[in-house]
Amino acid sequence: MDLKAIFENNENWIKEKLSIDKDYFNRLAEGQSPDILYIGCSDSRVTAEELMGVQPGEVFVHRNIANMVPNTDLNVQSVLNYAVRYLKVSHVVICGHYYCGGVKAALQQEDLGVLNPWLRNIRDVYRLHQKELDAIADTEERYKRLVELNVQEQCVNIIKTAAVQKAKKERDFFVHGWVFDVKTGKLIDLNINFTEILESIMKIYRID
Ligand code: CO
Repeated sequence: MDLKAIFENNENWIKEKLSIDKDYFNRLAEGQSPDILYIGCSDSRVTAEELMGVQPGEVFVHRNIANMVPNTDLNVQSVLNYAVRYLKVSHVVICGHYYCGGVKAALQQEDLGVLNPWLRNIRDVYRLHQKELDAIADTEERYKRLVELNVQEQCVNIIKTAAVQKAKKERDFFVHGWVFDVKTGKLIDLNINFTEILESIMKIYRID
């Protein structure tokens, strides 16, 4: 890729924005008040803003391999806490995607060095849902279902945090599990029934 083109693209983008609104960047500089926190995969095909059609300032974004929310990862936990406690977002979205390399790697018997502890979190999701997953004979379908179940478990990880439990008590606050289908471009709401999932486990994870 020609990196010079990136700076040219940037100049064109500035011109385009200013031609519509000459105060565009002055207003951007005043601050942000996004209503959504999006946590997605680092995969270059899953672009966050572009696939949602949102503008700068509208969505707070965090991306990592396989859209994970490990409770010991200071990076994602900092993003989540800042978004919920200070930006006061109303929605947190976990957006997974089919054909996720991270999820696929977690299905292989392979030593991936420093990635092992990260991907272990996905193996734990498999173990939690082993009965359902093992019953799916088709490998691709099983892999796609693991992507969905991983999204669901990361949503549950979000609800385990004190910041989110507090926000849920104090205001309208929602957690959503979505999947982006790379093959069709479609964004799918998994419509996860959190009431049902949380009913049996909140007595364990309640901290606020
Ligand atoms: Co991915």
